[in-house]
Amino acid sequence: MSDVPRLVLLTGATGHLGSYVRRELIRLGWPAIGWTKSPILTDVGLRLERVDLTQRKLVVEACRALSPSHIIHAAALANALTCAREPEQAFKINAQSTQLLAELAKAAKARLLLVSTDLVFNGEQGNYQERDPVSPLSVYGRSKVGAEEAALSVPRAVVVRLSLLFGPDLDGRPYFFDEQLRALRERRPLTLFHDEWRTPLHLAIASRALLDVLVSDWEGILHVGGAERLSRLDMGLRLARHLGHADPIIDACSRMTLPGEPRPRDTSLDSSRWRKLLPGKPWPLFEEALELEGAGIGQTPESAPGQAGP
Ligand SMILES: NC(=O)c1ccc[n+]([C@@H]2O[C@H](COP(=O)([O-])OP(=O)(O)OC[C@H]3O[C@@H](n4cnc5c(N)ncnc54)[C@H](OP(=O)(O)O)[C@@H]3O)[C@@H](O)[C@H]2O)c1
Repeated sequence: MSDVPRLVLLTGATGHLGSYVRRELIRLGWPAIGWTKSPILTDVGLRLERVDLTQRKLVVEACRALSPSHIIHAAALANALTCAREPEQAFKINAQSTQLLAELAKAAKARLLLVSTDLVFNGEQGNYQERDPVSPLSVYGRSKVGAEEAALSVPRAVVVRLSLLFGPDLDGRPYFFDEQLRALRERRPLTLFHDEWRTPLHLAIASRALLDVLVSDWEGILHVGGAERLSRLDMGLRLARHLGHADPIIDACSRMTLPGEPRPRDTSLDSSRWRKLLPGKPWPLFEEALELEGAGIGQTPESAPGQAGP
């Protein structure tokens, strides 16, 4: 395990995951700077710079000026529906930006951590290990495979594949989880897939794992998923029970009914390598994870599509 990083650069610092990583960096007191594409939020506790990753010159200048010792690349076009509609943008933001950051990391001798996804797999097998071949079904998945290849082309890089992330959004942005909370509270019906399995991971656990792995000696691919293999329907029913709703209106549907790109059946991750690398770190069950943010799950921003997330 290495010392405290000299300077961490976090891309995607305003995303669902980025906001949790931001909070964790602040908690640890590590020197860090976040990059964002949109106008900068005020007072998020971490210095933010507005850097569009598709603007090569801007990225090169900003990165050289910072000379980070560690880069967490969490920025992405992470909505699979948007990626399918805008494949060029998806590859530009996901794959090409990683290629550029990899080159810059190599030049600065910085450690690069790319945040990737279980959706690099086609879902036919389930319980995927790091050595299993990738086989994405979507533009999003293919663009993340491109990102992985770019990241792994430089020394000391690590690719952390996360599973479906859940938890309340810290910046009040709409996220599928917030929409489910709101729908359950307002007694509105939910329709959830009974045949799409992941190993869902709470955003707080994911962000801690990323920082642990960042300062570890691990190189290559690492799977970081939740402790349980759950369908979207399982998650909705257990969330409702956790909130004390005895008779939620939750209908089951098949992922096959959704038009557009095919959705993988089972992209659950085998996280045993991560657990062995960093033993003793929290790995809560779904309900235990819901307790992590306490009253946080009582606040819900505006609604968003329930099943369209990554
Ligand atoms: N959410 C999941 O369930 C999940 C599961 C597995 C893996 N992942 C991976 O986790 C990472 C974060 O996902 P997320 O759900 O937190 O995504 P998100 O909420 O959509 O956030 C994406 C972030 O990327 C930034 N971004 C997008 N385009 C950019 C550009 N051209 N230049 C600079 N920044 C740009 C956004 O900046 P603005 O806020 O300024 O627009 C935002 O901060 C992604 O790499 C994703 O592939 C997510």
